[in-house]
Amino acid sequence: MEERLKQQIRELLRDRNAVLLAHNYMRDEVQEIADLTGDSLGLSIEAAKTEAEVIVFCGVHFMAESAAILSPGKKVLLPRLDAGCPMADMVTSEALTALKTQHPGVPVVTYVNSSAVVKAASDICCTSANAVKVVNSLPDKEIIFVPDRNLGRFVAAKSDKTFHYWDGYCPTHERLRPEAVQQLKAAYPDALFVCHPECNPAVVALADHACSTSGMYEWCRKSSAKRFIIGTEAGILYKLRLDNPDKEFILASPALVCPNMKLTSLEDIRDALLTMKPVVSVPEEVRIPAKQALDRMLAIPRD
Ligand code: 13P
Ligand code: SF4
Repeated sequence: MEERLKQQIRELLRDRNAVLLAHNYMRDEVQEIADLTGDSLGLSIEAAKTEAEVIVFCGVHFMAESAAILSPGKKVLLPRLDAGCPMADMVTSEALTALKTQHPGVPVVTYVNSSAVVKAASDICCTSANAVKVVNSLPDKEIIFVPDRNLGRFVAAKSDKTFHYWDGYCPTHERLRPEAVQQLKAAYPDALFVCHPECNPAVVALADHACSTSGMYEWCRKSSAKRFIIGTEAGILYKLRLDNPDKEFILASPALVCPNMKLTSLEDIRDALLTMKPVVSVPEEVRIPAKQALDRMLAIPRD
């Protein structure tokens, strides 16, 4: 049954000249069928480069918006329109405007986990993969950082700038408590602990390494260690285990499941390709300034 559905999706992708992109947190079967999996930065770049006319974005709403911002000539489908990101919803363009008024002339660095209108009101975007580089590329001594307070604090520790934070956070990563990590470290003293900088600073302080989802694949692959405690959304385990059959990966907490990232099913993808809906688009007056903020980020060389 699942094989038939996957076959149907592959045929539809071909007929529609569509490409299927999936974030590293998607369900296993969605990652398995995707043309490309990746982190927020990698997928935005691929979305802009692809020659396909249609992008089926398996992720959450802000990611599909980023694809629509960078690829105006293409149709961007988000199979589940209700797949949002609570952190992105924690800052509005009105609130950001008020914050800018409090700190006149201070540039705004906005994490890509944000709406198009918030990006449009920002100077430059960043992802967890390049946030330190983006912040340190600015000549200014002060910055406004929205919406993730945890990523903001992680970056501030690697920068000599003064940060004005927003009090946003990822509810999924925030559920990981330092006590849970300490218990696992005691149970598996040989294991390395790697986490996403969206985790609480008390958790990041316990990490051997903190990085983006794609950074985690790279780091675990290169490491000579055989056991890892993973502090990010459970979807990452699929490829970690597939690519490293000789290593053991332990999820730091069963609470590390993002309900939004788990919404998209194979049936949803098939239906989106059949109906060519739901489409995510961004009006030009928002798209152009939002693209400027994303382009400034993309102009910074990757490692
Ligand atoms: P990235 O590491 O891909 O930026 O993902 C973080 C995240 O929470 C996406 O929702
Ligand atoms: Fe948003 Fe967190 Fe889910 Fe990522 S994992 S989509 S930041 S709620």
